[in-house]
This record gives sequence, C-alpha cells and structure tokens, in this order.
Amino acid sequence: MNASSKIVRANLDYLKKLFIMPDSPDKFIEFGHELLEMLHDFFQEKGGIHSSITLPELSDIFDQTAVPDKPWLIKDVLFEIKNKIINHSVKVGNPCYIGHMTSAIPYFMILLEMIIAALNQNQVKIETAKASSFVERELVAWLHRLVFDREDRFYEKHIQNPRIALGNVTADGTLANMTALLVAREKAFPPQRGFSGVRMAGMDRALRYYGYTRGVILVSTRGHYSIRKTASLLGMGEENVINIPVDDNNRIDLKKLQRKIRTLEAGKDGEKTRIIAVVGIAGTTETGNIDNLDALADISRAAGAHFHVDACWGGSALLVEEYRAMFRGIEKADSVTIDAHKLLYCPMSMGVVLFRNEKDLHHIRYTSQYVIRKNSVDTGRFTIEGSRPFACLKPWASLKIIGREGYGLLFRQANRLTGEMKEILDHCGNFETLNNPELFILTYRFIPARVRRQLDEWGAARSSAGGTETARAYERKIRKVNHLINGLNIKIHKALRRDDTTFVSRTVLESTRYRPQNIVVLRAVLINPLTDSRILKAIVDTQNRIGCRLWEEFKPAYRRMLAELTGDASSGR
Ligand SMILES: Cc1ncc(COP(=O)(O)O)c(C=O)c1O
Repeated sequence: MNASSKIVRANLDYLKKLFIMPDSPDKFIEFGHELLEMLHDFFQEKGGIHSSITLPELSDIFDQTAVPDKPWLIKDVLFEIKNKIINHSVKVGNPCYIGHMTSAIPYFMILLEMIIAALNQNQVKIETAKASSFVERELVAWLHRLVFDREDRFYEKHIQNPRIALGNVTADGTLANMTALLVAREKAFPPQRGFSGVRMAGMDRALRYYGYTRGVILVSTRGHYSIRKTASLLGMGEENVINIPVDDNNRIDLKKLQRKIRTLEAGKDGEKTRIIAVVGIAGTTETGNIDNLDALADISRAAGAHFHVDACWGGSALLVEEYRAMFRGIEKADSVTIDAHKLLYCPMSMGVVLFRNEKDLHHIRYTSQYVIRKNSVDTGRFTIEGSRPFACLKPWASLKIIGREGYGLLFRQANRLTGEMKEILDHCGNFETLNNPELFILTYRFIPARVRRQLDEWGAARSSAGGTETARAYERKIRKVNHLINGLNIKIHKALRRDDTTFVSRTVLESTRYRPQNIVVLRAVLINPLTDSRILKAIVDTQNRIGCRLWEEFKPAYRRMLAELTGDASSGR
C-alpha cells in the first residue's frame, strides 16, 4: 500500500454504497476512467514482453498469509493492481509475442466484459439469465450450423426449443471435450432392462454388464492432454487413451488406426474392448494440422464408436469458405468442440461443445428441486458446470462486429504471416522448419546450415542403405547430433526469454522427419493481426543472432562428436 493510503472502517452505509449504487454515479465513472487509462497505459507501454521481475520477487510481493481484516479504499486497491499486477503481466497482445494461442484481442471485448460483469447473469437458469439464455441458444445454433449445416427447418425448430440443447457453452475447451466424451461414455453403456446405465452404475459394472474388459478412446499422439484428463475424471483411466502415431503431416495415421482397431476387436488374452470414442483433431495444439476427418468419421462408424472432433483450435476457421475444405467430414462427427478464446479472438475463456444429434445431451441431463427443475427451460439441465457467466456475449457480439468477412481477413492475414515466417526461416539457412502449417502454427528449430547439411547427407545415406546395419549406424549418428541440437535449442529459448523483446514457445515433438526421436522445437502461433513482415524479420534476426552466439559454445562438442562418428579428426571445421 502507498504511504497516503487509508484503511476504511467497516461501515455498512459505505458498503451498501459499493453495492447498490457506487458512491455516486460520478465515482463509478471516475473509477471507470481511471481504470481504462491504466489499461491504456499498459497497452502503450514499450519494452519487454514479460516484466523483468523474477518469480521469487513476485512471491515476496504476494506473501500476505491472511485475508485483510479492514476494508481498503478502492483507489488504493487500484493503485496496487496497477503496480503489482498490471505492471508485471505478460503482454500477450504485443505483436512480437507469437508464441501461444493467447494473443491480442479487439478493444471492444474489454467493454463486453464490463457488460457481462455488470449484468451478472447466471446462465444456469432462466430465473437469473433471461435474454442472455436466448443469446446463448442463438450462438450455439449459429455454430452448430457452421459445423453440421443441417436444414433450415432443423434450426428454425430448435434454435429456441428449450426441450433440447444443440450444445453447451463451457468454461473452456477442456470442459467442452469432457462434455463430449461424457456423452460418448453414456452412449457406449446405456441403461437397459436390468441395468441402470454407466451413469448410475459406474464403469466397472457397465463393463461387466456389457461383457467388456476395457473401454478406450483413440486419438493421435498429437491429442491435447485434456483427453487424458477426461479419461481419468470419467473413471475410464488414462491408460485407456490409446495414442495412434501421426503421418508426415502430423495427421493421425489412418492405416495404423485401422490396424489398432482390428487388434482391439480381435481381442487378445481374453481382453474384450469397447471403443468408446475416436477423436479427430482439427488443428493440433502443437502444429495446427488437421486430421482426415472424413475418413475418421467412416472408421469410427464402422467401429461403433462416438466420433468426436476436437476443433478447439481450428474450428472457427469454418466461418471462412476457403478453409472449409480442410474440415471435410466434420459434419459427420457426433460432437465438435470449439474455443472462442482462440481463433474468435475473445478474451479468456469460453468453449463450446456441439452435438449433431439434438437429443445427445439428454444423456447427461440433470434436474434438481431449487433450480433446473424438471419442466423448466433452464440451460443448466444439460451442462456439467453449475453456475456459468454470460461469456457467450463476447463471441455473439464479435461475430456481428467482425463478421464472417472480417474473420476471413484476419485468417488470411494469419496465413500470410505464417507463410512469410516460414520463408524467412528457410531463407536464413540456419533454421529447419518442421511442419507444413495449415492453421497458423509453425514449428522449427535453429540448426547451423553446415550441421543441417551433414544430417541431410546421413539421412540420404541411411535411406539408400535400407534396413541394414549401415542404415542403423547412420541412424545413431543422426540421433547423437540431434541430441546436441536439442540442447542448443533449449538454451536459445532460455536466452530469448532473457532478451524478452520477442516470444515464441518451445515444445518437444516426436518429429515426423526424425522419428522416433524427440526433437526440441520452437513454435510460433501467428494470429496477431498487428504482427507484420518487419517484425517477423526482426524476430528471426534475434533468434539467428542468439543461435549463432550460443553455437560457439556447442561447436567444440560438435567437432569432437563428428571426429568420433566419422573417424576424421579434421571434420566439422
Ligand atoms: C486442440 C486443443 N484442444 C483442447 C484444448 C484445451 O483448451 P482449453 O485450454 O481452453 O481448456 C486446446 C488448448 O490449447 C487445444 O489446442
């Protein structure tokens, strides 16, 4: 607290004014202005992306171990928010910040958040959310139509039909995926005469009743970890999420998937498996690539499994005609999830789960006596969550303000930026791009041109040596060098964090080029419309400069390694 701050004596009259009407409308507007100015300063501030404060220093700032007894003046708390929180927040909207799916938002979103807070609607029930319940149903119908494109009559009949739910608005993509897979689980083990269904009886009894030993979910190795979380929370067990390898384009390998299904269906050692769901990904978290949804739909149907598409990242691209072809087959999915806080440019956070069959959400319908009564029209009857905010106002309004045309321009810009970034990296010579970007995510790594040439040479020699011992020897050489380059890229990423003028993220992928080896990659997510070619060039220049500097530290080890691997003491010079 600053020196002049005052502690307020708890006083009911003062507190009432905080609730019913702030002190006077003037006070409300005065604080509002102050707050907006504070935010504006934050946006305008130049300098680092992450404030220079260290994590231990932050721990020292937020070290009060007990709730304050006395009320503080609002202005003092605002002062504290500015100095201790805003000043040390990550500038995710900075055009040089191209590392995560969390990025810049349009300014009107902040105003929409104010409306959401001011109205304080609780979407669980109509008694606390009147018009907002209808807004939510309208938004869900729009998105349902984008995905499933059912006939006009279907939407006219159901858009505001309280007896069904075409989908749910959720807190995030994780909960949206969980809702979809919960429905899949209920459908896999439904109630029958003499059996109350998995929802009542639990997984153990459901498996026994239906004569199975396990229930599984199939998804590629690029599957988001929310699928594993779901399996654990729904009592299926994480070991029952089976990861299928990807092809060279980071898409689920269909042949390997079919082979796996055949093996599961054949059943070994008395094992009998129920395939509860097959999950397709429309925009993988790490590479932005899209599975072959059309083929997956057919494979899932043949296996009698629920087909879920996790389109949390990419689903919003369905708004734009030229992207729709990539999602061919999504309309055959049983459920689809989309995040508004990703490609709809809404602030944190809101997901949506949509079901092709308008009755599917009945599988998880709940009622109670005091809310969501049996014959009520409350949306909360169909959701995992209880109380929910009026978050849907943000995409609902932005789909009007930006519109399909506007999103088209934003996605085209993102696509252009992704292409440019790839070109700049490829042109530099010291980088290797590692995926074919589809939805604005590029993975790459720093690797000095001469090391890259060496790997390419060994790679070609390995291929022409077939499956021989010579090929395996080349494989071992490639592995060793990649291990060294992994270390280099980790160091580069750490140095970039210290430099703090730009930001890309880092992950480890079983790279399609070097599989089965894990490769450390830098990851750029190019969705900020304020990023431009000049910025991209500066980002790559910074990475190249830091990479070259750090390579000097790695070079002696590389030379020794090369001399050892080739038996030539002069190699690597
Ligand atoms: C493909 C995919 N699915 C699910 C999620 C989970 O979304 P959330 O972080 O909103 O829970 C993500 C998040 O990045 C994602 O990329």
